[in-house]
Amino acid sequence: MLIHLKQLLTPDELAQARALLQAADAPWIDGRRSAGAQAVQAKNNEQLAQDSPSATTLRALVLAAVQRDPLFFSAALPRKIFNPLFNRYGGGMNFYGAHVDNAVLHSRAPDQWVRTDVSCTVFLADPDEYEGGELVVHDTYGQQAVKLPAGDAVLYPGASVHEVRPVTRGARLASFFWVESMVRSDEQRRLLFELDMALLALRKTQGESAEATRLTGVYHNLLRMWAST
Ligand code: NI
Repeated sequence: MLIHLKQLLTPDELAQARALLQAADAPWIDGRRSAGAQAVQAKNNEQLAQDSPSATTLRALVLAAVQRDPLFFSAALPRKIFNPLFNRYGGGMNFYGAHVDNAVLHSRAPDQWVRTDVSCTVFLADPDEYEGGELVVHDTYGQQAVKLPAGDAVLYPGASVHEVRPVTRGARLASFFWVESMVRSDEQRRLLFELDMALLALRKTQGESAEATRLTGVYHNLLRMWAST
């Protein structure tokens, strides 16, 4: 399941993030320093040094944005969030071939292991600023290519094979991170999301009703049955 989070960042947050990432002294390092054994063969991009002051500011900015977004919560049902990372594709370091992410990764801030149930990419450059650079997710329904407006994000299954196509002009800036979900199963998480969205639409068109209350009970009882906290 791919979920598009529209305008995850406010225009102010986006401008702040871009200013930090485009600063002349932004501490970009070779992205291969943080890839697993399989992924390192395919990886050719740059990443912002995690221990830099700008990374600290940017992490807080992205975390605040996802934590206030109701769609993010409903779709990911987060238990732990990996500290957001930042990357740049362009020039001679411009692609990330097909790979899988490690199932469990160590997040530095806070210091914790995170199971990668859900992956998230936040686009920080507009599609017309660069050529190529689509995030391609090999889903059960086939390949889906994603290239979103700056400030938007996509959630996709952490278990999927995925890649970033070569950027042949300009620079692609993004944040990416993983979520360990309270509900480990993609299938169960998808059912909960469907039910939650249907309830939202039902209340919008019909207002409160006894049936909506009962279905809300079903939602929470399924979540109680499936969630680990
Ligand atoms: Ni990846």
